[in-house]
Amino acid sequence: MRAACTIREARPGDLDALTELLGLLFALEADFAVDAGRQRSGLELMMGKGQARLVLVADSEGNVVGMATAQLLISTAEGGPALLVEDVVVRPEARGLGIGRALLERIESWGLRLGATRLQLLADKDNTPASTFYHACGFAPTNLVCLRRTLPSGTGK
Ligand SMILES: CC(C)(COP(=O)(O)OP(=O)(O)OC[C@H]1O[C@@H](n2cnc3c(N)ncnc32)[C@H](O)[C@@H]1OP(=O)(O)O)[C@@H](O)C(=O)NCCC(=O)NCCS
Repeated sequence: MRAACTIREARPGDLDALTELLGLLFALEADFAVDAGRQRSGLELMMGKGQARLVLVADSEGNVVGMATAQLLISTAEGGPALLVEDVVVRPEARGLGIGRALLERIESWGLRLGATRLQLLADKDNTPASTFYHACGFAPTNLVCLRRTLPSGTGK
């Protein structure tokens, strides 16, 4: 990784850059739509108080060039904490420099401190570069498929 690039926790001043990065990511993935307002709201929730969520940025001389998020889950299969990794994206001009790997390594360290015994994530099955990247970083495919059902918003009690 370039010496000038550091991995740090996101700050409120990073929100515009992070929203733009999520726009790059969701434009690539068939299951998601780019919606800057929603992405910003999600980031604000992720960056709120609490120890169960982590938003990381890769900072190169004051510029946000990459990001990744993680959330702590309890897995009954593991009998303890596990991490859900999402929002892994590096700006095109900064790819291939080890930044993605560094983001995942920082997430792993955070998970180990919290006692997590597994990292898990979803990847678009057509995103071959991402699959190769995750494989290089030690992730292996599973036999699970992702199912989802969208609920109407604003009707919860
Ligand atoms: C996938 C992504 C995050 C990788 O980030 P990166 O900073 O370029 O990756 P790194 O430089 O840390 O690479 C780490 C390893 O993955 C491999 N790798 C990364 N991108 C690769 C690619 N496009 N093709 C093949 N291998 C790749 C590298 O060769 C490296 O392996 P090595 O350490 O054994 O040499 C980045 O390409 C990206 O933002 N892509 C678009 C968004 C995306 O698809 N995110 C994943 C969503 S599921």
